[in-house]
Amino acid sequence: LITDIRLRRILDSRGNPTVEADVVTESGGFGRAAAPSGASTGEYEAVERPPAEAIAAAREHAVGRLVGDAYAGNQREVDSILHAADGTDDFSEIGANSAVAISMAAAKAGADVLGAPLFQHLGGAFRGENFPIPLGNVVGGGEHAADATDIQEFLVAPVGAPSVEDAVFANAAVHSTVADLLEERDVPCGKGDEGAWAPSIDDSEAFEIVDEAVSMVEDDVGFNIGFGLDVAGAELYDSESETYEYSDTSRDTDEQIAYIAELVREYDLVYVEDPLDENDYDAFADLTDEVGDQTLICGDDLFVTNTERLIDGIERDAANSILIKPNQIGTLTDAFDAIELATQNGYDSVISHRSGETEDTTIAHLAVATDAPFIKTGAVGGERTAKLNELIRIADDAT
Ligand code: PGA
Ligand code: ZN
Repeated sequence: LITDIRLRRILDSRGNPTVEADVVTESGGFGRAAAPSGASTGEYEAVERPPAEAIAAAREHAVGRLVGDAYAGNQREVDSILHAADGTDDFSEIGANSAVAISMAAAKAGADVLGAPLFQHLGGAFRGENFPIPLGNVVGGGEHAADATDIQEFLVAPVGAPSVEDAVFANAAVHSTVADLLEERDVPCGKGDEGAWAPSIDDSEAFEIVDEAVSMVEDDVGFNIGFGLDVAGAELYDSESETYEYSDTSRDTDEQIAYIAELVREYDLVYVEDPLDENDYDAFADLTDEVGDQTLICGDDLFVTNTERLIDGIERDAANSILIKPNQIGTLTDAFDAIELATQNGYDSVISHRSGETEDTTIAHLAVATDAPFIKTGAVGGERTAKLNELIRIADDAT
């Protein structure tokens, strides 16, 4: 039984405030979790409120309903009380940031009561043998860095890695090899919000460099490393002109589909997230029809971890993969329902961080618990390695 919930503001990786929740139970269980925060947020995401407001609203509406009434181990009950306390369909009253922090903290308290690791409590007993493959962000721009690439994320996926540990280190090796190649070309650069290099180069040069870095590291490690992208198409799309606006050119929807299809073939892309605008299911479907048998076409801003939007996508064959961000939808139960619906319909789930993160490791456990084939949580940087190192620990414990 939940006996106390404390909410506070803490710092996220961008230096912005975010919501942290502590959940305490009668039998001495304790769970603590914090909400992440996006920069290239989808139009249809649950609503994040300024943390001070979200905390005040959650204290007023949700805390009293949960304390003394809900069991931390009963996730569906906790999460349905959060929905009832909020009373809206997008968490705009208590804030999706308060909701997700409480939801995840309750899960951790539930695991603590059982003395089990979080991934076990979340369903790990029936998981398979595989571990999620980490998608590592090595070069990026878009909304995550000023004056860098148009495509938001150039990702690497060590699909041939024999273990999570090998995969995590391979991604870090590509990240550092990219830095060497940039230095050789005299390109100065810092890092974007997710720790990826943010050089002031055009996308075609970024393709060259990442492709070369991947080959070099593949030779070194002796296993296959795939190449992927998060285009964040909604950020490039101009709904007035109905074109995708790049620094050096502009593409209409058909040209954008042809461009992405060409990139898939040229670079053997294993993963393409949000190649098109978040409102354009039909364009997604056309691209999936063209290259969906060679690559994952993943909906992030398209689906926003929302089962209703995923149903629309499934009906139209808009993609073959969904990005899962618990804070896009507000509770772990909603995230689980999206994963289950995806799995039932042959969609791969990719569990994801946000550009604004904390040391919280819940998504590593969620990915393992649900047998997700991929996890996207950066390559380097403390708030990213918190999750990657947790994956290594889970694998070490579980095998
Ligand atoms: P965000 O970006 O967390 O800033 O939304 C991550 C993504 O688009 O996948
Ligand atoms: Zn994305």
